Amino acid sequence: MSKKRYLITSALPYANGPLHLGHLAGAYLPADIYARYCRLKKRDTLYICGSDEHGVPIMIRARSEGVPPQEIVDRYHFMNEKSFRKFGMSFDYYGRTSSPVHHQTSQDFFRTLARKNLFVLKTDKQLYDPEAKMFLADRFVRGTCPVCGYEDAYGDQCEQCGSSLSPADLINPRSAITDAEPVLKESTHWYLPLAKFQPKLEKWISGHPEWRPNVRGQIQSWFSNGLKDRAVTRDLPWGVALPEDVAQAAGVDANGKVLYVWFDAPIGYISATKEWAAKKGEPELWKEYWQNPDTNLIHFIGKDNIVFHCLIFPAMLMGHGDYVLPENVPANEFLNIKGLKFSTSRGIALWVEDFLEKYPADSLRYSLAISMPETRDADFSWEDFQAKHNNELADILGNFVNRTFIFVRNYFGGKLPHLGELDDLDQQLIDRLVQGKEKVGRAIDEFQFKEATRQFMDVARFANKYFNDQEPWSTRKNNPEKCATTLNLCTQTAYSLAILMNPILPFTSAKIWKMLHLPDESDRANWEDIGTLPLEEGHSIEDIEILFQKIPEKVIKAEIENMRKLSEGGPEKAETKPAFLSFDEFRKMQLRTARVLSAEKVKGTDKLMKLRIEVGEEERQIVAGIAQHYSPKEMVGKTIIIVANLQPAKIRGIESNGMLLAVNDGDTLALVQPDRDVPSGKPVS
Ligand code: 2FM
Ligand code: ZN
Repeated sequence: MSKKRYLITSALPYANGPLHLGHLAGAYLPADIYARYCRLKKRDTLYICGSDEHGVPIMIRARSEGVPPQEIVDRYHFMNEKSFRKFGMSFDYYGRTSSPVHHQTSQDFFRTLARKNLFVLKTDKQLYDPEAKMFLADRFVRGTCPVCGYEDAYGDQCEQCGSSLSPADLINPRSAITDAEPVLKESTHWYLPLAKFQPKLEKWISGHPEWRPNVRGQIQSWFSNGLKDRAVTRDLPWGVALPEDVAQAAGVDANGKVLYVWFDAPIGYISATKEWAAKKGEPELWKEYWQNPDTNLIHFIGKDNIVFHCLIFPAMLMGHGDYVLPENVPANEFLNIKGLKFSTSRGIALWVEDFLEKYPADSLRYSLAISMPETRDADFSWEDFQAKHNNELADILGNFVNRTFIFVRNYFGGKLPHLGELDDLDQQLIDRLVQGKEKVGRAIDEFQFKEATRQFMDVARFANKYFNDQEPWSTRKNNPEKCATTLNLCTQTAYSLAILMNPILPFTSAKIWKMLHLPDESDRANWEDIGTLPLEEGHSIEDIEILFQKIPEKVIKAEIENMRKLSEGGPEKAETKPAFLSFDEFRKMQLRTARVLSAEKVKGTDKLMKLRIEVGEEERQIVAGIAQHYSPKEMVGKTIIIVANLQPAKIRGIESNGMLLAVNDGDTLALVQPDRDVPSGKPVS
């Protein structure tokens, strides 16, 4: 791609539930790898995402909880944004489609198409709930399935036999909202006549033979069936309102009509860019990305979104006329979870938030990247996750970096030793780094993230072998100059690897950067530095920390067992995320003030601290994950809040009797503390 700017988007996830691993592997991790790589290549890069906050499932969820839809989207927008941050997603802006800028932008877009006469209007009879006084979207109609006789089938699908239905097929249809019998009522809607756009779309797609075969295949089958008119308005109380002026001009009452969620959602990319530009203080800058032909627009999505991003949205963009078209749409297939009867509607999935409470984000990123569902569906398995973490991240990458730094610390006083004459093996290592830079770069440029990840680990493997083959533990005694050269090169290699891994393993890259005592990596790191030897003799290596702790067998066995129970427990038991806590449940939790008597870091970990605390008359020990944010010295004397009746647990073999409360937003951690002096052991309510 030779254009100047890179505008990268990831599908806007619906804000009606938490994120699961399938989301990450589909539209998010590949886009983040790509965006990070583009930034390292010093390309003009903008990466946009946000929450998709309209659509019927959000309304259904709101009704089932008895709250307004805005409350649902607020809850999941912030929750998902936080999970993304913990996973290391580097969005330049994370917007939301309930924002006023988005409503305005979508309405303006719709107005332009209406003004250009690009819609057709059709009047049809549709099911209407006379009690709720609203038209019923397919999902809001229930009745008996004509195929299998199941009495609670949805208007669009029978969950019992899987048949896809339309509301008119149902026997004894009834409203899912009031149970009233729906009546047929006339309603007028705006349609996008896609058939008219087909020749232009076909010509445009034929200019992109480089797109993934799975994407082109799906598009071709839509073309061969002939594109049909698509309704782009709905009768619903939640969404972007149909512009009054457009409705009026057509002699239709705009009341109760909104834009179809798939009309407004992709415009969300544009409105989020506008908000980003406004926040930056350059409100017109969004146009440089969306309206300047010198932009590569790249949409990362899952395969279920292909038709919207490759045909419908491009038709809208073509119709409007002011916008660039996507340069590529690298859609991924699906990720299945081995052994899990996955169903988000029943709450059965591996949730990102839970996962990252227990395992490092980079380990998840690596295991998803190396078996990414690029050309076919892929499986996530706990065994494989453990193997990737233990055998590759810990044994190869972590081992190489840590043994290098520890050697420099132990035998060279923590200073980079002299680089002497190079032997063949030394030269091979340098060549391998340069080759790695090219191979990994090419793979990412071609959206082959699996290949990029494999190539990166091959370089680390080569480096680890180089360390073994050079035997610095022997040369230290019999050829100190060679030993110095080996360790100089190994340290320079760790520097190169930190850049090479940065798109895939950003947290680990930052840790290496810190141990190398370099300023903020985001400004300094440059892809072209891979394979150069920029560190000078005497450069110091600081505060070495172990990059990856192995995951024990029994931990993984417990995860597998957990998943089996979840799959077999059925929907009732699988409800892992109740929305509300009853007051009685809350009262069961004993929150108490406690005073820290002494504190020490837990050896061999980077996050954990062991605290002795006083809780009234009692003294006890807790282990808390605060060591990256507070020093033991700072903690002594503090009054904190603990959950006093949490079941005692062993963390890294150390007994913990309670849990400390803190605010943790991924980057910063702040203790929850009383704002006045209070004795320890007091109840908090
Ligand atoms: O499939 C989904 O999760 C949609 N919310 C994706 C929308 S992508 C874009 F068009 F906003
Ligand atoms: Zn059925």
